[in-house]
Amino acid sequence: RSPAVNALSSEASKPAPSTSVAGSRLAALNAWVAEVAALTAPAAVHWCDGSDAENAALVAQMQADGTLLPLNPATNPGSWLHRSDPDDVARVEHLTFVCTSREEDAGPNNHWMAPAAAHAKMDALFKGCMRGRTMYVIPYCMGPIDSPLSRCGVEITDSPYVVANMRLMTRMGAPALARIEREGLERAARGEGGDTFVKGLHSIGELDPGRRFIMHFPEELAIKSYGSGYGGNALLGKKCHALRIASYQARHEGWMAEHMLIVGIENPSGETHYVAAAFPSACGKTNLAMLIPPEGYQREGWKVWTVGDDICWMRPGADGRLYAINPEAGYFGVAPGTSAKSNPNALATIDANTIFTNVGLTADNQPWWEGLDNGERPATDWRGNPYDPDKGPAAHPNARFTVSAKQCPSWSPMAEDPQGVPISAIVFGGRRASLVPLVFQARDWTHGVLVGAAMGSETTAAATGAVGVMRRDPMAMKPFCGYNFADYFSHWLSFDGAGAALPKVFHVNWFRKGDDGKFLWPGFGDNLRVLEWMIGRVKGEAGAVETPIGHLPIPTDLNLEGVELSDEARAKLFGFERAGWQAEFASIGEYLDGYGPRMPQALKDEQSRIAVLLAD
Ligand code: GDP
Ligand code: PGA
Ligand code: MN
Repeated sequence: RSPAVNALSSEASKPAPSTSVAGSRLAALNAWVAEVAALTAPAAVHWCDGSDAENAALVAQMQADGTLLPLNPATNPGSWLHRSDPDDVARVEHLTFVCTSREEDAGPNNHWMAPAAAHAKMDALFKGCMRGRTMYVIPYCMGPIDSPLSRCGVEITDSPYVVANMRLMTRMGAPALARIEREGLERAARGEGGDTFVKGLHSIGELDPGRRFIMHFPEELAIKSYGSGYGGNALLGKKCHALRIASYQARHEGWMAEHMLIVGIENPSGETHYVAAAFPSACGKTNLAMLIPPEGYQREGWKVWTVGDDICWMRPGADGRLYAINPEAGYFGVAPGTSAKSNPNALATIDANTIFTNVGLTADNQPWWEGLDNGERPATDWRGNPYDPDKGPAAHPNARFTVSAKQCPSWSPMAEDPQGVPISAIVFGGRRASLVPLVFQARDWTHGVLVGAAMGSETTAAATGAVGVMRRDPMAMKPFCGYNFADYFSHWLSFDGAGAALPKVFHVNWFRKGDDGKFLWPGFGDNLRVLEWMIGRVKGEAGAVETPIGHLPIPTDLNLEGVELSDEARAKLFGFERAGWQAEFASIGEYLDGYGPRMPQALKDEQSRIAVLLAD
C-alpha cells in the first residue's frame, strides 16, 4: 500500500443532514423537494450551501466509503480519483429523450416519449430509490450570479460525487439559492405561474444500463435522470440544462444556447477579439479554449484568454452584436491526450484540487493516462486492476478531470462579466479525415447557418457506441438540441435582422489526414495561425479566394512561419476538391430533406444555390 494519504481526514464529521424539506423561502421549491422526498423516501435531506466545510465533509465521507481515492498529496494536492461503474463511462444518447407534448417538436434529431408516459416510467424507477441514503438539494446558477443572461436550476441527487462535481462546474449553494428565491418571489408577486428555475431530479439507481434513462421535459423546465453517475448524464447543470433545456428556452426568449467554447485572442496592440467555436465532443474545444501561442507569437505579444471550454449562451446586445457568457464555472475535460506538449494550460489547471474520473494510477498514486508523456508508468488501470497493456488502455478513452475554471493560467476575468463578451467570429468544425480543408469562411449569415447545419464529424469515445463513424452533427448539437433541428435552424436564421452586427462564420478541420493516415496540420498552438487569419477577415485585412464552398485562404494568406508542410499537406489543407464537394452537397441536401416541410426554405435554397455552383 502506498503511504499517500490526502490532507483531509476521513474522521471529519458528515454534514449534519437536516430532514427538513422546507429549506428555502420559496413555497414552490419547498413543495417540489417535499414531493421528491415523498417519492424517493430518503433517510435525510441535505440542502447544499456550497461551503468549504460542506465539501470537506462530503469528501471525507466519500473517501471513507471508497467513492473517492486520495491521490499523491506531493504531486496532486487536494485531488481525487473516482472510478465509475465500468458500464457507466460516457453519455448514453440512445437512452436520452426529449419529451415534448407533440412528437414533431422534438424532431427526428431526438428520441421522443410522451411526457405522461415518460413521467410514469421515471417515477416508477425513482419510487423509494433513495431509501437509507441522503438526498442532496443543489441550488445552482448557470452563469455569473449577477448576469441577466444567467439561468438557475436545482438538482436533487443521491450522489455526493455529483454534489462535489456540481460545486466545481457551477456557481452552487447559498448565492444561487438567493437568486432563485428572489426571482421566484418576484414572479409570484406578478401573479405569474410556472417556475423560474430548472428542476433536475437524479439518482444513480442501481447503475443498471437496462434501467437507465435521461429524460428532458423542456415545456416544464424539468429533467429526470436515473441509473447513471457519469458526467453529462448526472451533472444536470451541464448538457441537460445548459444545452437541451436552455436551447428550448433560448428559442422562446430570443437568445442562443450553444455547444461552443469561448476564447479571447489578444493581439500585440492589446486588442482582444472573442471567438466562439462549436466542435463535437472530444474534437478540440478544451484545447482551443486554452491554446498556447507558438513561440514567435508569444515574442510578439499575442495572448489567449479562456472564457469557456464547452458551452456558450449568447444574445444580441444593444449594438446588434452577439454577447456571450460561459454558463459554467469549471471544466469537465477529456484527460487522455492532455500533455505538457498538447495542452500545458490544461495540465497546469489540474495540478491541484481536481477530481479525476476513470484515469489510471502510477505506483505512487499519481493520475496517469495515455498521451500524458511525463515519464511515469501506469501500475493500475481505470478499473483498479493491475495495468496490463494487452487488456486495453490504463485510462478509459473518455476519462475526465473536473476542476474550477479559475485555476486555468489563461482564465479570463471577463468570464465573470455579467454582460458577457462580444463575439467577432463563430467557428464550426469536426473531425474529417478527408475532403474538408483547414479553414474557410461563409459568405454571409445564411450561408454560415448552412455551414453549421451541414457539419459532419467522426464519432468519438465521449458517447457510448462505435468510434470513427462519420455522422451529421449540426452545430455540434446533435446530442444536445432540445427541440426539432428544423426549428433550431429557423431560430439561427432569425438573428439576421436589420442592423445586426453579427459575427463572421468560419469552418475549420484540424483533423485532415494524409495518405499515410497521419494528421496533416500540426494543430494545437498552431491553430492560432488560423484564428489570426479569421480575425484578419473580420477586420477586412486578410486575403482569400472565392470558391463555391466559401472564402478559402491560399497558404500565403496565413502566417506559416516555422510550420513545415509537405506538398500533399498544402494541397489538401488549402485545396478545393470539386467532385468530393458535389457528393457532400448531395448528401447535405438529403439530410435537410429528411426534416420535411418544417426545414426552412432559406436553408434549402442556400444548399441548392451552392449545389448549382458546384455543378458548373
Ligand atoms: P473537447 O471534448 O471538444 O473539449 O475536446 P478536447 O480539447 O478535450 O480534445 C479532444 C481530443 O482531440 C484530445 O485527444 C486532443 O488531444 C485532440 N485535439 C485537440 N485539438 C487538436 C488539434 O488541433 N489537432 C489534433 N490532431 N488533435 C487535437
Ligand atoms: P462532452 O460532455 O462529452 O461533450 O465533453 C461531457 C459529458 O457529457 O459527459
Ligand atoms: Mn472539453
